[in-house]
Amino acid sequence: MKGIILAGGTGSRLHPATLTVSKQLLPVSDKPMIYYPLSTLMLAGVREILVISTGRDLPQFRRLLKDGSQLGLDITYAEQEHPRGIAEAFRIGANHVGDDSVALVLGDNIFHGPKFSDILHDNAQDVQGCVLFGYAVKDPERYGVGEVDADGRLLSLEEKPARPRSNRAITGLYYFDNEVVDIAKNLSPSARGELEITDVNRHYLRRGRARLVDLGRGFAWLDTGTPASLLEAGQYIRMLEERQGVRVACVEEVALRMGFIGAGACHRLGETMTGSEYGRYVMDIAREFASAEGAVEPVNGSTG
Ligand code: DAU
Repeated sequence: MKGIILAGGTGSRLHPATLTVSKQLLPVSDKPMIYYPLSTLMLAGVREILVISTGRDLPQFRRLLKDGSQLGLDITYAEQEHPRGIAEAFRIGANHVGDDSVALVLGDNIFHGPKFSDILHDNAQDVQGCVLFGYAVKDPERYGVGEVDADGRLLSLEEKPARPRSNRAITGLYYFDNEVVDIAKNLSPSARGELEITDVNRHYLRRGRARLVDLGRGFAWLDTGTPASLLEAGQYIRMLEERQGVRVACVEEVALRMGFIGAGACHRLGETMTGSEYGRYVMDIAREFASAEGAVEPVNGSTG
């Protein structure tokens, strides 16, 4: 399965903070926002990832994530000239997707919850049609909304309905089979002139090929759209990290645990950030991992 992170847009609701910097590079607690969706794709087992952003912001994403090889990934980049809709990602990324299935995640979507890796991984196997991830919210009119029957089967999908038929928001993480490339190619823009992801999802729904996975009550799906919600998201992550002594969306740790890199490589990534708690955490994790595994690979110094 290929991955796409859509990290464009103008971030206008966060002006002036986003006048010169991409919203998806702003910090959420101690790390850039894009680390969260990036770790989501990594936990799903996805290693070939296309980052789509604006011409203005792509150089900074490249500086941050490079070619991905330091994390055992293959990261490439493409420009979206104007925010013409989320589904444009499949036109821009058609070559990247090739004849594979694809996971799309919006660069501002932050997930955290129990067994998330299992949910991500299990649903990524042999994707038929589309897999959507639903989350109960108190303000569904702000999102794509899915209506389900008693057995959890999807009945309808609507984008920001004035009168939502359910409280089930459709989050910004989607799995699609390869047909999505053709569906996006043939899609017409909506009344607001955008290639809507909800129209793609409805295409699958009409053919009985859309499935909704419910993220339960124990989950956090955090909003980062406004200055207040961005701050709250950072506080939530910080509180978890402080309380539990672990880090959420530490991409170096995820790469290590997924087996994408070894403990030595992980330690060296931490060595480039010794001035920060984050960097020291990465080194500690690498050391712990190495001793638990009885690793032969040295984890400090310039060797290994
Ligand atoms: O976050 C989940 C929601 O995302 C879904 O429930 C909705 O169905 C879906 O339409 C979308 O709603 P938003 O109102 O959040 O969409 P927005 O236009 O704000 O775009 C979401 C992110 O994607 C945002 O960070 C910017 C980026 N984006 C958006 C568009 C339209 C792009 O990079 N390019 C685009 O063309």
